[in-house]
Amino acid sequence: MMKNIGLALFVFLFALGCGEEEDDPPQDTTNSNDTVTPFVSFAEAGPVLIANCGGCHTTESKGLWNASDYDSLMQDSYFCDGKTKAECCIVRIEDGSMSTAKNKTVSSAALQLLKDWVASGLPE
Ligand code: HEC
Repeated sequence: MMKNIGLALFVFLFALGCGEEEDDPPQDTTNSNDTVTPFVSFAEAGPVLIANCGGCHTTESKGLWNASDYDSLMQDSYFCDGKTKAECCIVRIEDGSMSTAKNKTVSSAALQLLKDWVASGLPE
């Protein structure tokens, strides 16, 4: 019986000891919920634009940009004042004025990748 109490006490104290360590407040404030924008370049964004918009934007005949031509996407947009054509792509996907040839909506993953490309500073 005494042995069991001793064991119980030992386990209790052991658990307490562990608990104290876990109670230490985290000192690392960088470990908060801040989300980090993944770096996306045109190497990844270009194929997404070709897949979703290439049906019409493979020459510069429509909208004056070409999904495989980085420079054309860096031109000033006529539709979105003060933005590049690349940034305007996001506006027009979200406002529904540009969809794929079959009128499908752009997947949220594809849209997020384009947004990450803009947030990365539109690197080539
Ligand atoms: C069915 C053909 C078609 C498809 C598919 C298409 N576009 Fe367009 N796009 C056009 C035409 C036509 C214009 C020119 C008229 C206009 O601006 O509405 C244009 C213009 C644009 C412009 C304006 C450029 C500027 O300087 O402001 C943007 C941005 C654009 N498209 C983005 C997209 C994106 C992003 C996709 C894919 C999600 C896409 N388009 C798919 C036909 C299309």
